[in-house]
Amino acid sequence: MSSNQQLQERRQIAVARGVGQATQRYAVRAQNAEIWDADGQRYIDFAGGIGVLNTGHRHPQVMAAIERQLAAFVHSCFQVMPYEPYIALAEKLNASAPIRGPAKSLLVSTGAEAVKNAVKIARAYTQRSGVIAFSGGFHGRTLLGMALTGKVAPYKMGFGPFPAEIYHVRFPHPYHGVSVADTLDDIAHLFKYDIEPTRVAALLIEPVQGEGGFTVAPAELMTALRGICDQYGIVLIADEVQSGFARTGKLFAMEHYAVSADLITVAKSIGGGLPLAGVVGRAEIMDAPAAGGLGGT
Ligand SMILES: Cc1ncc(COP(=O)(O)O)c(C=O)c1O
Repeated sequence: MSSNQQLQERRQIAVARGVGQATQRYAVRAQNAEIWDADGQRYIDFAGGIGVLNTGHRHPQVMAAIERQLAAFVHSCFQVMPYEPYIALAEKLNASAPIRGPAKSLLVSTGAEAVKNAVKIARAYTQRSGVIAFSGGFHGRTLLGMALTGKVAPYKMGFGPFPAEIYHVRFPHPYHGVSVADTLDDIAHLFKYDIEPTRVAALLIEPVQGEGGFTVAPAELMTALRGICDQYGIVLIADEVQSGFARTGKLFAMEHYAVSADLITVAKSIGGGLPLAGVVGRAEIMDAPAAGGLGGT
């Protein structure tokens, strides 16, 4: 029996069935764009985790940064005894994210956590509760992440009830016969039949849907969404957990658009394989939650 098969047998006994599994090849080492399995087979790694390794496996600068940090200290909760690298990264994010006016940042551990914090910040800023998200969108596996995700199987099946006040409209997709006009119609219907726009805190969109099929949000949609958000005081959140960090050729996918988001979530390739995520956004909005309202250990 091969090493991969042996590991698969152990996995079936030891690991919960619900954890998805795309392959039965077990990684033992990786470098740059290549990865080797337990049987010594070499692969070109097009998955990169799931879009987590835009600079490849074990980039020398990432490895050197990890080694430097290991030699200094491994952990200190920023809310208890803060440290400079958090501030330095926030400064870099604020300077590079396509946000109108002064920006501020918050760092967390996972993409789902970043999305949840973006929603918390938008709710605190607007003092409203509604959130509009899109069919096919993926925003994480926590309860709020699942609620925001616009795909039932396999993400939501059997896990409800979900947090209230989340509404989905159709993401434009020629293959599904959905135009930008259809999407805007859906939003108009929502405002007419489900929730008044002045109770909507945020509109959440992936500029490029990952899980939804690598579908780009058309420029005219993003411009229209910006207009709706400006008209009704809704916070526009771009979920760039997957599309960010040069995945689209620019640092942020939002740089391809004529309009900007108010908040941007980041994760995956920002950490080069380490669990790191965050929210960067307009300073005025980011500062809405009271001191102590945001954080994590
Ligand atoms: C667009 C998007 N948002 C959020 C998430 C959740 O990130 P995480 O798995 O780090 O919680 C993902 C993960 O694939 C994602 O693609």
